[in-house]
Amino acid sequence: MKYACIIFLVTAIFIACTKSELSRGPRPLVPAVPANFPAFPSMPDNPMTIEGVELGRKLFYDKRLSGLNNISCASCHQQDLAFADGVAFSNIGASGKFLHRNAPALFNMAWVTNGLF
Ligand code: HEC
Repeated sequence: MKYACIIFLVTAIFIACTKSELSRGPRPLVPAVPANFPAFPSMPDNPMTIEGVELGRKLFYDKRLSGLNNISCASCHQQDLAFADGVAFSNIGASGKFLHRNAPALFNMAWVTNGLF
């Protein structure tokens, strides 16, 4: 009986914690923006959340997004190189062939609101 009570108590605490985690929902993230920057662009259809940023980081480093499961965004956009690849001509892609360009540094991309490339 003593063990049944302990198991019940542990299960009840676990369920209570899990439910409160789920009901909380995504938490809004307000990024710190330097005073001399324009206001952070608002994205009503894709608001920035702590969970969204965590998901984006995981996807950025996930090699399963590539056709051969061998490269991620971070393979070319390396964090320790300002998210660039640090070479003149990149050959990191799936084909291994040299491109006529390199992977540029990625920062302040939130302010790119009129399309990439
Ligand atoms: C195989 C190397 C490689 C991988 C992997 C890669 N990129 Fe890039 N990325 C590049 C290159 C090269 C360019 C420059 C393209 C150009 O100038 O035409 C670029 C450009 C960009 C840009 C800049 C666009 C602009 O207009 O300035 C962004 C943002 C970007 N990549 C994000 C990503 C994300 C997110 C992923 C993963 C989903 C990713 N990249 C994966 C090589 C790569």
